[in-house]
Amino acid sequence: MEDFSCKTRIVSGPGAVAALGNLKARRLFLVTDPYFMKNGMAQKVAALTKAPEIAYFDQVRPDPTVELAAEGTALLKDFGPDLVVALGGGSAMDCGKAMAYFAKGSYTLAAIPTTSGSGSEVTDFTILTHDKVKRPLVDSRLRPDIAILDSDFLMELPKNLIAETGFDAITHAVEAYTAKDAGVFSDLYAREAFSSLYAALPASYAGHKDVRLKVHVASTMAGLAFTQAGLGLCHAMAHSLGGMFHVPHGKLNAILLPAVIGSNAGAAGKKYAELARAAGMGGSADTIAVRNLRNSLVRLRRELNLPETLVQAGVDPRQVWRSAGDIVKAVLKDPCSAGNPMMVEDFVIRRILEEVTGRV
Ligand SMILES: NC(=O)c1ccc[n+]([C@@H]2O[C@H](COP(=O)([O-])OP(=O)(O)OC[C@H]3O[C@@H](n4cnc5c(N)ncnc54)[C@H](O)[C@@H]3O)[C@@H](O)[C@H]2O)c1
Ligand SMILES: [Fe+2]
Repeated sequence: MEDFSCKTRIVSGPGAVAALGNLKARRLFLVTDPYFMKNGMAQKVAALTKAPEIAYFDQVRPDPTVELAAEGTALLKDFGPDLVVALGGGSAMDCGKAMAYFAKGSYTLAAIPTTSGSGSEVTDFTILTHDKVKRPLVDSRLRPDIAILDSDFLMELPKNLIAETGFDAITHAVEAYTAKDAGVFSDLYAREAFSSLYAALPASYAGHKDVRLKVHVASTMAGLAFTQAGLGLCHAMAHSLGGMFHVPHGKLNAILLPAVIGSNAGAAGKKYAELARAAGMGGSADTIAVRNLRNSLVRLRRELNLPETLVQAGVDPRQVWRSAGDIVKAVLKDPCSAGNPMMVEDFVIRRILEEVTGRV
């Protein structure tokens, strides 16, 4: 049985943020990170709501912690908003979603992504870090009411963020397409997201601003796919390694995805091959198409100047091997492992770690 829902209203296009003005908000609580407070963007967004009372929570840091979300939840509860806006990348949106969820009030939750990657604006997920482990919380009440996809926020996006967040989105599409709970509707979004991202990311990275909206919309489609279908081993490992070594999430996915595809190829070869063909990578036999998919992603990773190993991302390999037991434990516990097309076992995780760690 497939049970697909797309409850989030999606408003997209240049200038789409003006839609906030129609929500008739009286008390706005805006969650963001210091970057958008300093450059005045948070204040501009708040003004568009025309809310007479406004409170800001601008303390979000990359990979927000449970403690930070708890601090914000208390402030949000005290303020009693009728509109909560989460403005920023996956970290700000996740933090805002978690705060709105834990405060249990009755308000509209609007998410405005400023990176094209996490898909958090339409997902039931929020990822908070606790005790150096990134823990996904999954609940349909976390899904925002409105997602505003406004390409104007992306015009100054630094190159490294285009690459990292773009690879995160591409990983969402690949993992959702091959996840255990994938169905016809999630497949539709995942396939379209994958083809669009694969085609447009290099141009966006090279500085072509006209493709930014295409990448942004594709990233949201990948979010719609994975919130329904689930993810897989690549994300389970990225969560565990990200909590421990603080390497950006998209970089970890770039390091891990080709190795995970190689490992899953026996169980998910047919679906990987379909994705490769949909994106024009060719391969009439499934095995060739899977090889094309893997090689194309390695080439894309290089084109986007993303690291190929943990060592290249600045991780000390001795620390990886010292923490291998904890990494394996966290991966096995991560809910994304359950979505992987092949059963995730201790030796599989260690073999992938072996492949991606690299040497000094
Ligand atoms: N909830 C979900 O469904 C989901 C899915 C995937 C990832 N995530 C989480 O999202 C987080 C990663 O999010 P992210 O990759 O979007 O990065 P991020 O939100 O951590 O932001 C990274 C940096 O980019 C800056 N930034 C954001 N937008 C910018 C812009 N337009 N211009 C200039 N700088 C900008 C931020 O200020 C920050 O310093 C991770 O914690 C990951 O676990 C959540
Ligand atoms: Fe992700």
